[in-house]
Amino acid sequence: MTWHRIGRSGYDVAVVGATGAVGEILLELLEKRRFPLRNLRLLASERSVGEQVMFARRSLGVDVATPEAFDGADLVFFAATGELSRTLAPEAVERGALVIDKSSTWRLAPHVPLVVPEVNPAALDEHQGIIACPNCTTIGLVMALEPLRRRMGLRSVVATTFQAVSGAGRDGVLELEAHERARAKGETIEPRLFARSVARNVVPLCDRLAEDGHTLEEHKLRAETRKILGLPSLAVSVTAVRVPVAVGHSVAALVEGERSLDVDQAGRALAEFEGVRFHGGDAAPTPHDVEHSDDVLVGRLRRDPDTGRLWLWSVSNNLRKGAATNAIQIAETMQRRGLLDQRARRTG
Ligand SMILES: NC(=O)c1ccc[n+]([C@@H]2O[C@H](COP(=O)([O-])OP(=O)(O)OC[C@H]3O[C@@H](n4cnc5c(N)ncnc54)[C@H](OP(=O)(O)O)[C@@H]3O)[C@@H](O)[C@H]2O)c1
Repeated sequence: MTWHRIGRSGYDVAVVGATGAVGEILLELLEKRRFPLRNLRLLASERSVGEQVMFARRSLGVDVATPEAFDGADLVFFAATGELSRTLAPEAVERGALVIDKSSTWRLAPHVPLVVPEVNPAALDEHQGIIACPNCTTIGLVMALEPLRRRMGLRSVVATTFQAVSGAGRDGVLELEAHERARAKGETIEPRLFARSVARNVVPLCDRLAEDGHTLEEHKLRAETRKILGLPSLAVSVTAVRVPVAVGHSVAALVEGERSLDVDQAGRALAEFEGVRFHGGDAAPTPHDVEHSDDVLVGRLRRDPDTGRLWLWSVSNNLRKGAATNAIQIAETMQRRGLLDQRARRTG
C-alpha cells in the first residue's frame, strides 16, 4: 500500500475511486487548486490493480480500497459506489480520517452535513466525521435558488432536469457512444445503465421508479434541496430526464417566493452570488459552456405571465461543481474553519 509523497507539509489524503470520472477531475483540481497535500493515496477496486494514474505530471500507482488503506489519512474523498461508502466511510472515520463522500449513501442521515459551501457552510461545524456532497443536479439547482431565497424567501419550486450521461459515470458515456454507433448503422442494442436507449433520444426515467411513481433521482432532488436550504416544508416538484449530452446537467425551474421580486432584482441577486454566472437577455447557457467551468450558469430569467413566479434555467458541469469541485471546496472551507487541523491534531 503506497503513500505517494507530494509535498513537504500538508495533509495525507486518500481518494477512493481515483480511476473514475469524478476521481479524475478531483485529482486534476487537487493539483490545480494547490490543495496542501503531503501524501496522496489512490484507491479503486481490484480491477485497477497495476493501473497508473497521472497526478502533477507523475504517474502514480493505484491500490485497492480496504479499511487499512485509511491508516494515517487525515482526509478521504469517496467517489466510488454507494455501497463502498456505506461500508468503508465509517472505517475511515474510525481510523481518525475525515470523509467527504460523493455518493448518496449518507446525504440524508441526520448527523451528516450535506453541504454546498456557497450556500450552507455553517453546517460543516456540526460534522461527526462524514460530510456528504449533494447530488450533481441538486447542486446546480440550489446554487440558483439560494440567491433568490435570500431576497424573497421560497415557497415552491417546480423543476425539470436534463441530465448528461456522465452522471452515471464513465460507463454512462460509453453506453451513449455505443448506442450512437449502433443507431448510425441501423442496429438496435439493449440499454444497460439507462431505462431506454439514450442515443438521439430523451428518457424521462433517471434511476429506478419508487412505488409512488417518482424516480429515486426525483426523490433525491426534493429531499436534498430541502435539507441544504434548511426548508423542510418547501414544495419541490421534480421530473428528472436523461438526455444524450456527455457532460453538463441543466434544470428548468419555476420558482415561487414568499415575497415578490422583480426580474431585474432577481438577476442582480444571481449575478452577485459567488459561483453563479448570470446570463441576461438572449444569452442562453448550454452544457457546452460548462465543459471546463466550475461555475453554475443561470439564464432565461423571466416572469411567468399567469402566476407571477420566476422561471430560470441553470446549467452546471456535473463532474466539476456537481461533484469534484464541490467536494474540494468543502475540504478548503473546513481547512479555513480550522476543522481539518482539529482532526489532524487529534489523530496525532
Ligand atoms: N458522475 C457524476 O456526475 C457524479 C456526480 C455526483 C456524484 N457522483 C457520485 O460519485 C461517485 C463516483 O462516480 P463516477 O461517476 O466517478 O463513477 P465511475 O466513473 O463509474 O467510477 C467509479 C469509481 O469507483 C471505483 N469503484 C467501483 N467499485 C469499487 C469497489 N468495489 N472498490 C473500490 N473502488 C470501486 C472504480 O474503480 P475501478 O476503476 O477499479 O472500477 C472507479 O474508480 C458515485 O458515488 C456517484 O454516484 C457522480
